[in-house]
Amino acid sequence: MSLDKTIKGLKASFSKELSKSKTSSDLEKFRIKYLGRNGKLASLFEEFNKLPASEKPRFGKELNILKNELSSMYQDVVGGSKGSSISNNTDFSLPGYNLPDGNVHPLEQITYEIKSIFQSIGFSVAYGPEIDDDYHNFEALNVPKHHPARDMQDTFFINPNTVLRTHTSNVQIHLMENQDPPLRHICCGRVYRNEAVSYKSFCLFNQVEGLVINEDSSFAEMKGTLEYFVQEMFGKNTKMRFRPSYFPFTEPSAEVDIWNEKLNQWMEILGCGMVNPNVLTNVGYDNKKYQGFAFGMGIERIAMIKYGIKDIRLFYQNDKRFLEQF
Ligand code: PHE
Repeated sequence: MSLDKTIKGLKASFSKELSKSKTSSDLEKFRIKYLGRNGKLASLFEEFNKLPASEKPRFGKELNILKNELSSMYQDVVGGSKGSSISNNTDFSLPGYNLPDGNVHPLEQITYEIKSIFQSIGFSVAYGPEIDDDYHNFEALNVPKHHPARDMQDTFFINPNTVLRTHTSNVQIHLMENQDPPLRHICCGRVYRNEAVSYKSFCLFNQVEGLVINEDSSFAEMKGTLEYFVQEMFGKNTKMRFRPSYFPFTEPSAEVDIWNEKLNQWMEILGCGMVNPNVLTNVGYDNKKYQGFAFGMGIERIAMIKYGIKDIRLFYQNDKRFLEQF
């Protein structure tokens, strides 16, 4: 049958011409001639279509074998051509393509830094729920239902008794409910506030909470701890001050400011204080025996001061031009 012959002939001329094709443009012409959409192999398949049905099975099989053979012969040459004469056209000294690098989100980087500073002075890392009941977010922290301090933290309610936590201080309560003193923990995580979104406030942000409870911790120890943190985070010569403040869950309370050389002004970075004895009673601790201190800071704020970022929303827009700078 003539198709038999054609197959043999095609194979012979294929390998002869392939061995003569040296440069990449030779090879491309060759590929189009034999393996292209209108090439010789394709026209064999067209002829096959015209065969009577009884002959189709045998030739179908042969043609498929042929197709595989030819393409693997071609691939062998093309694949193996790197070191051959084709390399004349290829400049291996050209730099490769730059694949885009991923990197760690700036907030994640700062969180990591904050954690390792506190871990280096013996704090463990704890976690707590972002959705919590009113009791753990407010009540147990000495913020009863109609207390004016609730206005400091505009709240997202899931139902009248369930909130998106407005601060990480809820974890203080969970920790103390589940463990006996001494405690020395930090907790990082998201918090939510129903505030107008602007360059300085966002509906969600991250906080780090610290809690130390034992028999002899003091305000002086808290100051030392936070001074150490500020120096590690912002540099040894950073000026800082403690300013009297008010939080229902600490007494006495303070806020810490650091001096910003560039802007020539004090910037508030955290709130802190001695744990209010009422809070200790709420979790069943003996407030005559135990005392402690707590502090809480916004991670975005720390990052904004450290890197001179002017708009908190940048952390949440996933703009590569911003993220790539860290
Ligand atoms: N929870 C307070 C806030 O979000 C910060 C704070 C934590 C203050 C612990 C004192 C002690 O503003």
